[in-house]
Amino acid sequence: MWQRIVETKVAVYSFDELSESQQILVEEAKKQVSNAYAPYSGFHVGAAVELANGEVFGGNNQENSAYPSGLCAERVAMFYANAQFPKVAVKSLAIAAYTNDDFLKLPVTPCGACRQVLLESETRFESDIEVILYGTDEVYVLNNVRQLLPLCFEKSSLQQ
Ligand code: THU
Repeated sequence: MWQRIVETKVAVYSFDELSESQQILVEEAKKQVSNAYAPYSGFHVGAAVELANGEVFGGNNQENSAYPSGLCAERVAMFYANAQFPKVAVKSLAIAAYTNDDFLKLPVTPCGACRQVLLESETRFESDIEVILYGTDEVYVLNNVRQLLPLCFEKSSLQQ
């Protein structure tokens, strides 16, 4: 027996330390929070996706009285972007969450299903997606989605 160590590298920034383009994308994700439809959880999430051609698409969580029918902000934004520009890679994604009258102090992190969807987009375009997870005290920046989903199941897993 041996142990494989799986590591994830996360760069931790304050908002002010982010580059101007990262700050702009985070601001867009924060703006998107206000259009969330989250009457059941009260947890409002905003996402902003920047494509390689400079287009930016936003999304927010859309809940439903039949809970599983709702969708997270990341998937709303990502599917929307891929639906509009099916041939253009996604460059960056930022997310922010707001609850109890404030943005979260620590970064909001995507759920497992969203990580899987984000990974598909990264794989599809063979292009890393930078992931920016906003919190008021700390902002996490990951170089790609793969870092968020170690030991993942993907396209190549089907061919072994
Ligand atoms: N949610 C997101 O939109 N993104 C996340 O990263 C985490 C969770 C939504 C789903 C649901 O509407 C609410 O937040 C509470 O889970």
